[in-house]
Amino acid sequence: MMAQKLIIDCDPGTDDAIALLMALAPFTQVQVLGITTVAGNVSLDLTTANARRICELAGQTQAGVYAGCPRPLLRPLITAETVHGKTGLDGVTLPYPQMPLQSPHAVPFLIDTLMQSAGDIRIAALAPLTNLAVALIQQPAIAQKISQLVIMGGAITQGNITPSAEFNFYVDPHAAHVVLHAGIPITLVTLDITHQAIATPERLAPIRQQNTAVSQVVIDLLTHYSRHDMAIYGFAGAPLHDPCVIAYLMEPSLFTTQPVAVTVETTSELTLGRSVVDRWQVMGAAPNLNLVETIDVEGFYHLLTRAIASYAS
Ligand code: BDR
Ligand code: CA
Repeated sequence: MMAQKLIIDCDPGTDDAIALLMALAPFTQVQVLGITTVAGNVSLDLTTANARRICELAGQTQAGVYAGCPRPLLRPLITAETVHGKTGLDGVTLPYPQMPLQSPHAVPFLIDTLMQSAGDIRIAALAPLTNLAVALIQQPAIAQKISQLVIMGGAITQGNITPSAEFNFYVDPHAAHVVLHAGIPITLVTLDITHQAIATPERLAPIRQQNTAVSQVVIDLLTHYSRHDMAIYGFAGAPLHDPCVIAYLMEPSLFTTQPVAVTVETTSELTLGRSVVDRWQVMGAAPNLNLVETIDVEGFYHLLTRAIASYAS
C-alpha cells in the first residue's frame, strides 16, 4: 500500500505531541511531509521547539519542522498557558531539540508543497487555523490541491475556553472562518468527540506496560496534562483531542460522519469562536464539511497502543 502523504499543522501542546508520535510511528502507513507550527497552546517559539523535540524522540529525520504565524489574524494571542497555566510539555523531560528548523516559513512551505503536488496531500490541523488561512489568502488555488483536511476544532455542545467556544476556533475565529468556507474537503472533529476519548488508567495500562522511552514519555505527558482536565471537568483522565484526527486519517472506520453546514462566529463577544452547526439547513447553506458524529473509543486506544508499541521494534 502507498503511504499517505500528510502535513501536520500543530501547536504542541501535550495532546499535539501525542498526535505527532502517533503519526510518526514506524507502524503507520503515513508519510509526514512536514510539520508546521503556529502559536496556540503556547507561543510559537515553544510550539516549534516542542515539535522538534518530539521529532527527535520519534527518531524522525524525514519531515522538516517549519515555524509559522506567531499570532492570530486579527486578535491578540491567547494561549492555554495564559488561561490555564499549562505550558505544553513542561514537567516532562524530553531530549534537547536536535532536529534542525527548516528555513522557509510554514506558509510558503504549505503553498509550494501543495501547488507542486498531484493533489494527493492530506492535512491534519491540530491548532488555531492561522497558517492555513494565510496560505489560502495568499494562494487560493491550494484549496483544490488539498485532498482532505481533518480539523480538530469547534464544539457542538459546550466549549472549553468559553461556554460557547472550543480553544482552536476561539483563538483565531477569523482564520477558522476563512478555512471552513474555502471549498476544501473537510472533516471536523469537535470537542464532543474528543471529550469521549478519555485517557483513563485502564486504557493507558497497555502503553505503560511497554516500558520504552516513547511509552514513558506518553505516560509522563498524560499524567501531567490530565490534572487540569480532571480538576475542571471531573474526567478520569485527559481527553486526547488531537490524536483523534490522526486516528481518523489512519483508520476512518473508527468514526462515523455526516455532511453538515458549519460556520464560525466572528463578531459577538459572548459567543466568539462558536461553531454553529446547521444540521437541518435552516439557514439554507449547503453542507461545507463532514462532521464526525461517533467514535469507537476502545478501537481508538487500541490503535494508539499499537502505534506507540511500534517504536520498540
Ligand atoms: C484543542 O486545543 C488545544 O489546547 C489542544 O491541543 C487541542 O488542539 C482542544 O480544544
Ligand atoms: Ca492542538
